[in-house]
Order: sequence, then structure tokens, then C-alpha cells
Amino acid sequence: KALIIDFGSQVTQLIARRLRESGVFCEVHPYNRADKAFIDAYDPKAIILSGSPHSTHWDNSPKADPSVFTRGIPVLGICYGEQTMCAQLGGRVEASEEREFGRADIKLVADSPLFAGFGPIGHEERVWMSHGDRVSALPDGFHVVATSGNAPYAAIADEARKFYAVQFHPEVVHTPRGAELLKNFTHQIAGFRGDWSMASFKDEAITKIRAQVGDKRVLCGLSGGVDSSVAAVLLHEAIGDQLICVFVDTGLMRLGEADEVVDLFREHYNIPLVHAQAEDLFLTALKGVEDPEKKRKIIGGLFIDVFDEKAKEAGGADFLAQGTLYPDVIESVSFDGGPSVTIKSHHNVGGLPARMKMQLVEPLRELFKDEVRALGRELGLPEAFVKRHPFPGPGLGIRIPGAVSKEKADILRKADAIYIEEIKKAGLYDVIWQAFSVLLPVNTVGVMGDERTYDAVLALRAVTSVDGMTADYYPFEHDFLGRVATRIINECRGINRVVYDVTSKPPGTIEWE
Ligand code: XMP
Repeated sequence: KALIIDFGSQVTQLIARRLRESGVFCEVHPYNRADKAFIDAYDPKAIILSGSPHSTHWDNSPKADPSVFTRGIPVLGICYGEQTMCAQLGGRVEASEEREFGRADIKLVADSPLFAGFGPIGHEERVWMSHGDRVSALPDGFHVVATSGNAPYAAIADEARKFYAVQFHPEVVHTPRGAELLKNFTHQIAGFRGDWSMASFKDEAITKIRAQVGDKRVLCGLSGGVDSSVAAVLLHEAIGDQLICVFVDTGLMRLGEADEVVDLFREHYNIPLVHAQAEDLFLTALKGVEDPEKKRKIIGGLFIDVFDEKAKEAGGADFLAQGTLYPDVIESVSFDGGPSVTIKSHHNVGGLPARMKMQLVEPLRELFKDEVRALGRELGLPEAFVKRHPFPGPGLGIRIPGAVSKEKADILRKADAIYIEEIKKAGLYDVIWQAFSVLLPVNTVGVMGDERTYDAVLALRAVTSVDGMTADYYPFEHDFLGRVATRIINECRGINRVVYDVTSKPPGTIEWE
């Protein structure tokens, strides 16, 4: 297996994902945990050093444990990983006058197995750069493999020690042949065979769950989405009736969603399920609360309260299972005490109050959405269910900016169902990563028949994405948008204007709150 040492880049987990896609098993661990003892015990066949928001010039800048470079195994440094590799091995890094951000073209100036199959010396390749500092002198034993306008050391190598480093990010899709480069590193240079698959992930996950849980009981919270459902089915395979599934009906679900989930578990899988109807509890607690982070914390907190109560009723549990995915983790809290910044408190992670008495089981923590879908198929979940668009834990609570009420949730549910129905009719559901509506706390003036109206604005959102980390808005035909707007305004009392959100992520996020 490979080891990825994380210095806090927002895209570190994409390295892991690319490796898994090419059949290499790996784990990501923060640099401050990856000391010599840890690495010895992990016994990696290769190590990758991630990017970072830090600069090697700052005080206490993160460093790789020195043993990384003395184990005699291949090492690949990416961006900051290149800089710290150079700084730690006796080269020099300096702040660059021009920051290089976005697309760049690199040119191969030497042969290297890292670029096997790319082209001869002189070949140019499109890559994605994001750096302020750059290497200005190489450590002994290194030579330049590729250059770019602003990065004379865009790719470097010490072929004898099998140390490689690149200034750009091969793990992001904006480096079109980046996956190939990573595969060259793992397969050609480090000798991985590439025989790991989602079926092996399932088996390993089941073994890990059994080891963590023993003969204890686990409470699994279902949110209605694919993630928690996949986690629950996986847990059920691992520990059978030690699992207690609780579906907390927050009253903030999509139309018909609660019934679908209950049927799937009770009818399709024959997994017992506690259906906690807690709409009033959630709506009362949310009354008058406008701040998005507060709403997230309230919903997350209540979830746990309800779990606690249901767990007690069912005879107690020691563990709480959740369908937390990697993007939730990275954007929510610094990963495992690691080094990245907070964007939102995702409900599955940040909203959990410290008072929670149960330990967490999070078997999907390393995965991206489409990997969870692949795992769901592996576990026999119906295709239509697996393909459902992602739905956030806090549900419609974060799709109603401002104060939430039952009346607003009902209007939103109805409008959203029309929107999704039209998307399915147009054959677009599967090409869109996520589509949903947001009920704005803004009233505008309209005219219907001869009457003046003063009703709410509904915003439609639809994005394409591979993993939820970045996204583009979906370019609907104007006819389609017009048709949806007409239906919603005619059929949903309380909405008299519909707008379409054309923001990508970044700089926007997918949800509005
Ligand atoms: P953002 O809005 O952060 O969303 O760009 C990225 C993806 O995560 C989903 N999301 C959540 N999922 N709990 C979840 O399980 C949450 O609290 C949460 N917040 C956002 C969002 O729907 C999108 O797919």
C-alpha cells in the first residue's frame, strides 16, 4: 500500500482517489501524525507528499519526517510536497514574484519513467498550477525533467533514489493526463500491480468495522441520502443485528423521501428500522433562527438527541455510525487534527456536540460520492436509489435561507418535486450531479390575472461535478428553464418568481448555506 502524507491541501484526497482508481490501495495521514514509528508500522511501498496552504518560509512550516527519505522507497512530492522535499534535502525554495495559478504548459526536457508514454523530449503538456513559492536550487542528485514559464523546476527527479517531484497538481481533473502521471509513479516506478478494487474495499471495510465494534451495538442514523443508506447496508453486512437503524424524519426531507427510505430498508433488505417522526421538534428548534451555521448546529445537535433517545429505548448502543464522506470531512474540520481550513460545519461532522456519549463509526470517511455509489452497487442497492442526487444531512433546513417554517418547507418540497420531475422528463437527471431548489427569504411583486402578487422567489440550482469538491452550473436550454418556471409559478402558491443560479464552485458552494 501507498502512504499519502497530508500537508493540508484542499485536494489531497484526490490523490488517494486517483490511486484507488488505478487499483492502488492507500491512506491519507496528516504530516504531524506520520512520524517514524507510524511510517515503520504502516510499511508503505511508496510515499506521496501533498500540497499545502503553507510556505516553507514560514516559521514551523510542516515537514515530512526525515525517515521518509531514508527508507529506500519511491517518494513523489506534489507542489508544497516538492518544495519541502527540496528544502529538506538541501535545495533552495524562494517566494516567486509571480504567483502561478491555473492552467500552465510544461515542456519535457529529460526522459523519465514519471512521464512514460507522454511523448519525446520537447513534448508539451497542459497542467494545473497553484503556487506562490518555487524551487530555485535542486538538492544533490536531482535534475530537471520538465519546465514551465514560471516554474523552471516544474518536474524534477533523482532517478537513482527514485525521488520525484512536481510543482503542479496531477491529482486534479484540470491536469488532463495527471492520473497517468500518478499511475506511472505507482505502477512503473513503485511496482504496484493495480489489483485493488471496490470489492476489496468492501471486504476491508467489513473487517475494519468488525474489529472496531467487536460484539458491541451500533446505532446508525439514516438521513434519507445515499451515503447513510450505503453505510447502513455495509454495517448490516458486517455486524447483522448488532445494528440498530434509526431514520430521523426531520420534516426537512424531499417529497416522498421518508416513505422511500422506510420501504427500502424494511421491504428490500429486511433490515429493521426505527422511524422517528421528529418534524415538530426540529421545526420548533429552528423557529426564528437565521444564521446558517446555527441552523446546521441545531439540526446536527437534535439528530444526536433523537438518536440518544432511540438508542436508549432500543436498549443502548456504544457506537454511532454515520455516512460521512471525505468532502464533508475536508471542508468541515481540519482533517483528523490536520492542517486545512473550515468552509462549513457539515452536519455529519461539525454539528456533533462534544457531549455525545457514543464513539463514531464512519466507514465511508475516505470515499468520494461516486465511490460510495460504486460501493452501493457492490452491496446490491437498487440502481435508481444509488443514482439519487446527493442530499445534505440538514436537508431543506439549509435550502431555506433565513428562518425555516413548515409552510416554507411544504412550498419548497412541492416546487422542487416539479423541478426534478421536469429534469427527469428531459432525460437530464443522470448527467446532473445535483439539482435542487432554494426558497429565498425575498418577496417580489408580480401580477397574476389582474391581481397584484407579493410572493417568494425560488432559485433553481443544478450542477455537474465529479466529486462535489468543484462544480459547474448546468447550462439548461432557456426553453427548459421557462417551462419549469411556468409550472412552478402556476402550481405552487406562494412563489411568483423563479431564477436560475449560474455560480460555479469555487467561488460558490453547491448548497446556498
Ligand atoms: P457544498 O455546499 O459544501 O456541498 O459545496 C458539497 C456537497 O455536500 C453536500 N452537503 C452536505 N452533505 N451533510 C451532508 O451529508 C451536510 O451538512 C452537507 N452540506 C452540504 C451538498 O449537498 C453537496 O452535494
